[in-house]
Amino acid sequence: MVMSVFLSFIFPPPPSLFIKAMSVVSLTSLAYTGLSEARGKHLNYSKFWNANSHQSITKIKLSSRTGMLFLYTPAFLAALTSFVLFPYHDFRTLLLKSALALHFFKRIFEVLVVHQFSGGMILDSAIPISLSYFLSTASMIYAQHVSQDISEPPVDLKYPGILLFLIGIGGNFYHHYLLSKLRGKGDKEYRIPKGGLFDLVICPHYLFEIIDFLGISFISQTLYAFSFTLGTIFYLMGRSYATRRWYLSKFENFPEDVKALIPYLF
Ligand SMILES: NC(=O)c1ccc[n+]([C@@H]2O[C@H](COP(=O)([O-])OP(=O)(O)OC[C@H]3O[C@@H](n4cnc5c(N)ncnc54)[C@H](OP(=O)(O)O)[C@@H]3O)[C@@H](O)[C@H]2O)c1
Repeated sequence: MVMSVFLSFIFPPPPSLFIKAMSVVSLTSLAYTGLSEARGKHLNYSKFWNANSHQSITKIKLSSRTGMLFLYTPAFLAALTSFVLFPYHDFRTLLLKSALALHFFKRIFEVLVVHQFSGGMILDSAIPISLSYFLSTASMIYAQHVSQDISEPPVDLKYPGILLFLIGIGGNFYHHYLLSKLRGKGDKEYRIPKGGLFDLVICPHYLFEIIDFLGISFISQTLYAFSFTLGTIFYLMGRSYATRRWYLSKFENFPEDVKALIPYLF
């Protein structure tokens, strides 16, 4: 019963051991990393770039801008290259490749033009994050490619997916813009963000990132896309929980009713 409802929304998993393994690896590794964030063991970028960095192996520090470009460029190139490697695609696969390329292009644009960074990034954190974005992008596109000849799921989520993706990417950009306005040129101070959904949650940009990836999963409707998105939700729950704790410890006047990620709930 549960399985048949589930199969109304997703393509039957293709007979690819790689995709099945990646579905499990992405979900569990992202969920585990989210739990570690909540427990205070952070990936070393942004506010937490210097937290627990004594435990890192190389201690090689990159500037935030260089580090962020290193995170997103391989995934962006994977999405772009897929147009050349798999030129024959149905409409759904075309949408998926375009959404992923646009997602990472926007991130690179923001790193170059919007964000005002203050810290750095430790190479030990940059490598697994970059690899995770690259592998998940390649796996999502590959899973779609091998699902093209399988009959479509009975419930078509492509069009709600496009809408969710556009809301997610737009809301994420808007809150990044609000964050960038907290600092002038050369300013490295942290301040309590205001405006948009910042008055309800401290990480609205993460909330919209989740909506963006839910949109991508709805466009894709593969098991892999949903596994990756569920993993991303767990990771961002952990990171936003840690971020709220950081604000509470840094600002005495931080409003207690501002939640981490989901207005009024979490
Ligand atoms: N898919 C995923 O699993 C995943 C995971 C994490 C992030 N992301 C994406 O990456 C985006 C950025 O993530 P992030 O964790 O780097 O976000 P972040 O820590 O909120 O930082 C974003 C930018 O805002 C600045 N900033 C943050 N809080 C500030 C404050 N209180 N005062 C002044 N400036 C402040 C940061 O400066 P500093 O660099 O100086 O802190 C940085 O330039 C997310 O919104 C999301 O789109 C995706």
